[in-house]
Amino acid sequence: MRVKVVNNYEILSKEAESVFLEAIKLKEKPIFGLATGSTPIGLYKNLVNSFNEGKISFKDAKTFNLDEYIGLSKEDTRNYKSFMNENLFSKVDIDLKNTFFPDVYNKDLKQSCLSYSKLLSNYKRDIQILGLGENGHIAFNEPGTEFNSKTHIVKLTESTIKANSRFFKSLEETPSSAITMGIEEILNAHLILLLVAGEKKKEALKILLDGKITIECPASALLNNPNLIIICDKEAYPYKE
Ligand code: F6R
Repeated sequence: MRVKVVNNYEILSKEAESVFLEAIKLKEKPIFGLATGSTPIGLYKNLVNSFNEGKISFKDAKTFNLDEYIGLSKEDTRNYKSFMNENLFSKVDIDLKNTFFPDVYNKDLKQSCLSYSKLLSNYKRDIQILGLGENGHIAFNEPGTEFNSKTHIVKLTESTIKANSRFFKSLEETPSSAITMGIEEILNAHLILLLVAGEKKKEALKILLDGKITIECPASALLNNPNLIIICDKEAYPYKE
């Protein structure tokens, strides 16, 4: 595990971009595991700039997103597919056919989970981008999720619904369930890049940095992948430097 503590979000996003570019440098057909949420937005902005400067192409890339809300319409701009289109896909040369999400619009959601799992088992990610939940969740694997979990339907915890409600008009309108990639599948990446910003993440990050592996902190499962890089800002870092 490598931990890098940086002064602010801008530097975090710059460092994340460097790790990303390095990880895919020699790959002809890179495979990315992508996260939504506020934390990777700066990274995606930088990747768009890199693309505009001709430093990177997504032409032959495949992407797999961590999760998708259940209950929003396909057209709803708050679903995660829209998020990715807005922040990355529409601004680079990726073929949308090569961008994958759990299918939350299938009548049989259990089948969707199985199909996504099957797909993931064929594509080990070159780099998996992750954010960290305030309660230690990764993707929408909430505390208590077994580390050998595969793609599944999840009821979001109150704390996660509250954190997500900032993008909705009210708590009631905020989706309470999702399909998420499982922890075992998240770990199946050559490199995991965990981005952590802000004071609210301090407690969860501490469990991880203390090396305590517990299902009460799903992110601690990441310690089982030796190729883990954590970039955090000063506010999130739980120790004195
Ligand atoms: C997003 C995801 C979530 C977020 C986490 C942190 O696809 O799966 O686990 O990474 O909730 O969210 P932000 O970055 O908004 O603090």
